[in-house]
Amino acid sequence: MVNVGILGATGMVGQRFIQLLENHPKFEIKALTASQRSAGKKYQDAVTWHLDTPIPESVEDIVVVDTDPGLVKDVEIVFSALPASNAAVVEPKFAEAGMKVASNASAMRMEPDVPLVIPEVNPEHLDLIEIQQKRRGWDGFIVTNPNCSTIALVLTLKPIYDQYDVNRVYVSTMQAVSGAGYNGVPSMAILDNMVPFIGEEEEKMEEETLYLLGDFDGETVEPASFGLSTSCHRVPVVDGHTEAVFMEMDEDFELEDIKKSMQEFQAIPQKLDLFSAPKNPIIVREEDNRPQPRMDRMREKGMAVTVGRLRQDASFPRSLKYVLLGHNTIRGAAGASILNAELIAEIM
Ligand SMILES: NC(=O)c1ccc[n+]([C@@H]2O[C@H](COP(=O)([O-])OP(=O)(O)OC[C@H]3O[C@@H](n4cnc5c(N)ncnc54)[C@H](OP(=O)(O)O)[C@@H]3O)[C@@H](O)[C@H]2O)c1
Repeated sequence: MVNVGILGATGMVGQRFIQLLENHPKFEIKALTASQRSAGKKYQDAVTWHLDTPIPESVEDIVVVDTDPGLVKDVEIVFSALPASNAAVVEPKFAEAGMKVASNASAMRMEPDVPLVIPEVNPEHLDLIEIQQKRRGWDGFIVTNPNCSTIALVLTLKPIYDQYDVNRVYVSTMQAVSGAGYNGVPSMAILDNMVPFIGEEEEKMEEETLYLLGDFDGETVEPASFGLSTSCHRVPVVDGHTEAVFMEMDEDFELEDIKKSMQEFQAIPQKLDLFSAPKNPIIVREEDNRPQPRMDRMREKGMAVTVGRLRQDASFPRSLKYVLLGHNTIRGAAGASILNAELIAEIM
């Protein structure tokens, strides 16, 4: 077994890590960190647990420590669920101390020597790890996964982008409240309501999407160059981000071909049969009223993205429209980091 730690273990994403790593065949939780507010307490006393499965017995009595590499002993991998401002300072220290950091935070994502990876989309970007270690003189390293709404979008774009000339993509999101963390959106702001703005989300989605689908020459990533415009909104859903996608192609296409390439899409995590890999990363539904967060977010244990309403627009023949749904704290966060770590453990 590989000993792992979780940084920011008491938050929304930290709790998902703990839930998903219970009974993991390769990774065993040995250390939990959080802020000074939680440090020194047993995990069960430090956390306000929000998930619908109990706190695993194996972590209940682990004493939470401050997020300092000197206090995290005998651990090979740390999964980071820290706020970005904190991650920017702390994650490099963990990598410098020799640990492999699989991070959810946005702080290091766009650093040119830090891989931003979705295993089904751009596993080759992991080659940046060697460059990062050499350049920074680290024994450990940092690998990141994208923002939650970006992961779901890019998984569905990948099989289309591989086959067709995509000209422009417009995306409108309806994002769950858990995406902002437990204290992120007050109930008085969101119940019976919708908030048409999420700070920095549109910028992240646009930059990360083009980067993930970019060309990698072994040293640097040249972002993809199609047009991409997003509009991000917070809705009163607990978990599961929905996105309405409008795409304009530079060539004719058959709707059935697109559907088939989404349904049949598989990549290296499926070929290697990684523990957290969904068998089908994209599930296509035919019903007019799907996907829906409550019904579809847990497909393939929350690791698949569900697509519905796949159609062409009668007035724009080279346009494609669909609605997608992805679980933001599983496929969009903790599950994404775990899949990155599983891939690294298998191929490096
Ligand atoms: N939620 C999502 O859907 C999602 C998706 C993708 C990425 N992310 C990213 O994942 C990260 C965590 O998000 P979240 O939603 O889990 O946030 P959260 O619920 O607010 O949890 C934050 C965690 O970080 C700890 N923390 C806060 N300040 C700290 C400090 N100064 N030093 C050390 N630890 C500190 C907190 O500990 P205490 O309990 O002690 O305060 C808590 O464990 C963020 O970077 C976020 O952008 C979130």
